[in-house]
Amino acid sequence: MRQLIRPSHSPAGPAESTAPPSGTEADLSSLAALAEVYAYPESVTSGRPWLRANMVGSLDGAARLAGLSEGLSSEADKRIFGVLRALSDVVLVGAETVRAEGYRPARARAEFAAARAAAGQTPAPVIAVVSRSLTLDLSAPLFTEPLVRTVVIAPEDAPAAARAAVAEVADLITVGHGSVDLVAAQAALTARGWTRQLTEGGPRLLGQLAAEGLLDELCLSLAPLLAAGEAPRIMHGAHMADAQRMRLVSLIEQKGFLFTRYCRTPE
Ligand SMILES: NC(=O)c1ccc[n+]([C@@H]2O[C@H](COP(=O)([O-])OP(=O)(O)OC[C@H]3O[C@@H](n4cnc5c(N)ncnc54)[C@H](OP(=O)(O)O)[C@@H]3O)[C@@H](O)[C@H]2O)c1
Repeated sequence: MRQLIRPSHSPAGPAESTAPPSGTEADLSSLAALAEVYAYPESVTSGRPWLRANMVGSLDGAARLAGLSEGLSSEADKRIFGVLRALSDVVLVGAETVRAEGYRPARARAEFAAARAAAGQTPAPVIAVVSRSLTLDLSAPLFTEPLVRTVVIAPEDAPAAARAAVAEVADLITVGHGSVDLVAAQAALTARGWTRQLTEGGPRLLGQLAAEGLLDELCLSLAPLLAAGEAPRIMHGAHMADAQRMRLVSLIEQKGFLFTRYCRTPE
């Protein structure tokens, strides 16, 4: 991996890194080194949430190939994906991504066990699924075998029978009417002490999170592929009143893939 731009300290940005100067070959072969590059800002320890998104896209902006993100990914992308999960308290994800990608519970990884325990984190992050319909396979391992009980976030007026069924196998949070109030949803996750927040999309959920002004950071993997076709972008559907400026804080390259890390520009 080549580290083209390394993180540096900023009041609203990530913690200071001891990585080598930008543009040099960096030994990012260890998970610990990658974890340092992607460290959450110190503010998460004082109860302030930080919402990071991790997404992959093609050069022409497609967020999926043949209906899935798998075709856009790479070995390094999966490695970073795993590190971002291992650093987080909670992974927020839209129900369609859970259904399409067959989401399983996050796993505990020995390499991160000590750091997670020291930070007071559960052995693996909680998966929190956002759904209006509650059309979820409740017999799937996501609900029957999680290390940490899965969370489902639904509107208060979601079908009562479905809410009751979900509450049997998951922690149900209800916020908003007609659709989940994402500001209240984030507050509910933060109130549980889960300030290191990660979202893995999909595009429809991510668009709303950005439009609500909740997104602090975007880790976008750029795959050296052209896809054309009808695939959505990584944010789809929601309208933002004003474009949000982001600043590049980290850039890694491997085999033509670019792994970017952009943070919200301080106001
Ligand atoms: N490139 C990438 O990095 C990446 C990442 C993730 C996913 N993907 C791909 O993206 C596709 C899925 O993404 P998507 O954009 O179609 O769907 P999505 O954002 O994963 O999920 C949309 C669903 O989430 C629920 N939802 C979202 N916002 C809600 C709100 N405010 N209130 C209540 N429920 C809400 C609804 O669930 P219900 O339908 O249950 O009501 C909605 O249908 C898949 O093809 C997946 O492979 C790509």
